[in-house]
Amino acid sequence: MKFSYILDSSLILKYWNILPTVVLIWFVSKWLYFKLKYRNEILRNSEEVNVQSNYSNESFVYHPALEEKEHVPYRGATKILPGGALQFYQMMKDRRSVRDFKREPIPDQSVLENCIRAAGTSPSGAHTEPWTFCLISSADLKKSIRDIVESEEEINYSQRMHKQWTTDLRPLKTNHVKPYLTDAPYLILVFKQIYGMTKQGTRKQHYYNEISVSISVGILLCALQAAGLNSLVTTPLNCGPALRVLLNRPANEKLLVLLPVGYAAEACKIPDIQRKPLKDIFVRF
Ligand SMILES: Cc1cc2nc3c(=O)[nH]c(=O)nc-3n(C[C@H](O)[C@H](O)[C@H](O)COP(=O)(O)O)c2cc1C
Repeated sequence: MKFSYILDSSLILKYWNILPTVVLIWFVSKWLYFKLKYRNEILRNSEEVNVQSNYSNESFVYHPALEEKEHVPYRGATKILPGGALQFYQMMKDRRSVRDFKREPIPDQSVLENCIRAAGTSPSGAHTEPWTFCLISSADLKKSIRDIVESEEEINYSQRMHKQWTTDLRPLKTNHVKPYLTDAPYLILVFKQIYGMTKQGTRKQHYYNEISVSISVGILLCALQAAGLNSLVTTPLNCGPALRVLLNRPANEKLLVLLPVGYAAEACKIPDIQRKPLKDIFVRF
C-alpha cells in the first residue's frame, strides 16, 4: 500500500531520471565524510606531535631543549667484558622468553634498579630519553593488571586477531590466560613518552620515541639476562589506555611493552625454536 503510494507519487515520477545521480552524490559525499573523519582521527592520534603552533610565526625564537655547552673529552669504552663480544653473545643466546615463573621474590631488589639504570643509558633521538619504566611488585596491582590484560586478550584472540595471526601463535601455545602476570614477582611496564614538556611549559618533541624506547628495552633485556633473571616481552593489544590509567601515568605516555620478570619455574617449558644462522642475517660488503 505504502510502496504503491510512493511509486504513484508525482514527484518521483517527475524526477525519476535524476534519481540515480542524486543517490550517487549522496553516497560519494557520505564516503568523503567518513574518509576525512578517519584521516583526522589518525592525525589526532599520530605520534608526530605538532609541538608549537609558533612554527609559522617568523619572529619566534627557537631554543634547544638541551643546554648548549662545551663538549667534553671521551676516551672510548673502558668497561669491557673479559671475554668480549663472544662472551656477550654466549650470554644472550641463553635468553629465552619465559611464560612460567616461580612465585618467589627476587632476593635483592636493587638488581632490578640496576637493570633499569642500564636501560636508561640507551641512546635516544636528540637525547630526549622518552621512557618511563614502571616496576610493579604489589600483588593487588599485578592482579588488576592481569584482569585488564586477560579480558582484552580474550577479545583479541577470539575477535580482533586475524585467523592467520592466531594460527602463527599456535606453536608458542599462547592464549588469553596469563598466570605469569601474577606469578612473576615483578612486572615492568615500559611507557614511551610521545612528547615531553619544556621548562617554559610548552610541549617538547620526542623524535623517534618508539625506536628510542625499543632500544632501551633491548638493553633492559640484556641487563636482566646478565643478572640471571628471566623475562618475557609482551605487547598486550588494546590494554595500553587502561593500564596507563591504572598506574596514573600522564597522557603523554603510551604503553610500549609489559615484561614479567623473575626466575623460570622448575617445570617451565619453552617452544623448541631455532635462531637464524649468521649467514642468513648478515651481509658483508
Ligand atoms: C615486539 C615483541 C612482542 C611480543 N609480544 C608477545 C606477546 O604479546 N605475548 C607473548 O607471549 N610473547 C610475546 N613476544 C615474545 C615472542 O613470542 C618471543 O620473543 C619469540 O617467540 C622468540 O622466542 P625467544 O624470546 O624465546 O627467543 C613478543 C616479542 C617481541 C619482540
